[in-house]
Amino acid sequence: MPIKPHIRTTLLFCILAGTASIAQAQFPAAPLIPKPQFVELTDDAAANFIRIGHNSALELDPLHETACGRVATLLSSQLATGIDSAASITLLIDTSVKHPEGYMLRYGREGVVITGGSESGLYYGAITLLQLLKQNGGSILYPFTIIDKPRFAWRGMHLDVSRHFFSVEEIKRYLDLLAMYKMNVFHWHLTDDQGWRIEIEKYPLLTQVGGYRDETLIGRPSEKMKFDGQRHGGFYTQAQVREIVAYAAERHISVVPEIEMPGHSRAALAAYPQYACTDGPFKTATSWGVFEDVYCAGKDETFNFLTDVLDEVMALFPSQFVHIGGDECPKTRWKACAACQKRLQTEGLKDEHELQSYFIKRIEKHVNSRGKTIIGWDEILEGGLAPNAAVMSWRGTEGGIAAAKAGHYVVMSPGKPCYFDHYQAQETQNEPLAIGGFNPLEAVYAYEPIPAGITPEQAGYILGAQGNVWTEYMPTFDQVTYMALPRMAALAEVLWTNPANKDFQDFTKRLTAHKVIFDASGYNYYGKAVLKNTKKSTKK
Ligand code: ACM
Ligand code: ZN
Repeated sequence: MPIKPHIRTTLLFCILAGTASIAQAQFPAAPLIPKPQFVELTDDAAANFIRIGHNSALELDPLHETACGRVATLLSSQLATGIDSAASITLLIDTSVKHPEGYMLRYGREGVVITGGSESGLYYGAITLLQLLKQNGGSILYPFTIIDKPRFAWRGMHLDVSRHFFSVEEIKRYLDLLAMYKMNVFHWHLTDDQGWRIEIEKYPLLTQVGGYRDETLIGRPSEKMKFDGQRHGGFYTQAQVREIVAYAAERHISVVPEIEMPGHSRAALAAYPQYACTDGPFKTATSWGVFEDVYCAGKDETFNFLTDVLDEVMALFPSQFVHIGGDECPKTRWKACAACQKRLQTEGLKDEHELQSYFIKRIEKHVNSRGKTIIGWDEILEGGLAPNAAVMSWRGTEGGIAAAKAGHYVVMSPGKPCYFDHYQAQETQNEPLAIGGFNPLEAVYAYEPIPAGITPEQAGYILGAQGNVWTEYMPTFDQVTYMALPRMAALAEVLWTNPANKDFQDFTKRLTAHKVIFDASGYNYYGKAVLKNTKKSTKK
């Protein structure tokens, strides 16, 4: 087939194809991640190869000028400088796109036009355009149309800042990655046994005491990494939290804060031991694991403390969801505590699992009274699920299935393949220390969040899935991105792209171009270099 007259015989086209049919076959393989739902080359005789840069004219939908202006600002801040361009980019919002996160991205005689179903859809269209331009040196090679929308509503990534603390700038770098992959939920694991990371004005000791830990020198999880005997810590002021929430919102990412209860609460109890079953004193945990000292479920003061904390947290985070943890709460102290046992009696509870359920339901009532919804790890099913709670299924998918069958919203995050603290390589001797076994890229890519054996109606309760990055063995941000990349990209495609369009070989080809972006942006990633654990210490 001859080259169509509208296609200029640039060097690129000589290399690419020479025929439109080959070019058409190639464009859908353009290295976009996540892969769009529909891509086609169009036959627009007036459109040719164009370059787009910082000085491209941005035309805004007059009916949605403010929303389009926000996307235009973000887009132009990332368009390359030094590219001379006469091309225009038109940004429109039109509800006929139907899906609020959907968009149409066209390049034709009228230049580039992005039409979003809402501001979010428009934003995702802009992200697609940026990926194309980054991979093509600021050029668009031929007229095309992309019609796209996400498969799932919850496209999440988690980060544990308790085991190791990461700076505001590092959190923003992490959010930039989520944005690039159209992930829209950042689950911020802010409290745990090893550190309380969010300033609470009414309880300053939470960060002053609970924000720091003295790492033990005893015990060696591996010869590769000893505990270091150093002081570690840090926290985010409320002003910094607001800054991060705003940064995320500009990128259409909702930040879901996690405040762990009733377990994983040693850092809080180091600061305020009166909310434990025994008198303490307690220290912020000096090693990893599950600890028996947890919030006392018998004392009303515990609930007053936690609802005060949650009120300050909810005022900082616009997210509909508040994560209240709920995982791995040993019942040892509750069994021996007079106040907890009295609570069992007065509330007519059968056992300590029902006491945990009482705890979560009481917290839920408060959170609901503020118009918000709780989400918790799947242990919150034990002893009876709180009436409006959503469940994050991490111990496999059974918890998620049970919750969906009971008509509760679910986020799937089973350890395999959603825990990105597990090894990426089968041979681990050259890998930095990790835990949890082998969880390769291919397994993440193959993940199907809708489990077999549930009805379409029940499947409707599965909001999506999430990748979790627990940082016991990630003392630096370089190591965080090493573990998250490229698995985050694979999960992004799981959550965005229809299964019929997925293909692992094709994904790995596209990923090659993304590694160039990681290199250019200074992100460490698996496959680039092997990183040994290097510990850092934050002195108070
Ligand atoms: C968890 O990994 N304990 C939720
Ligand atoms: Zn107690």
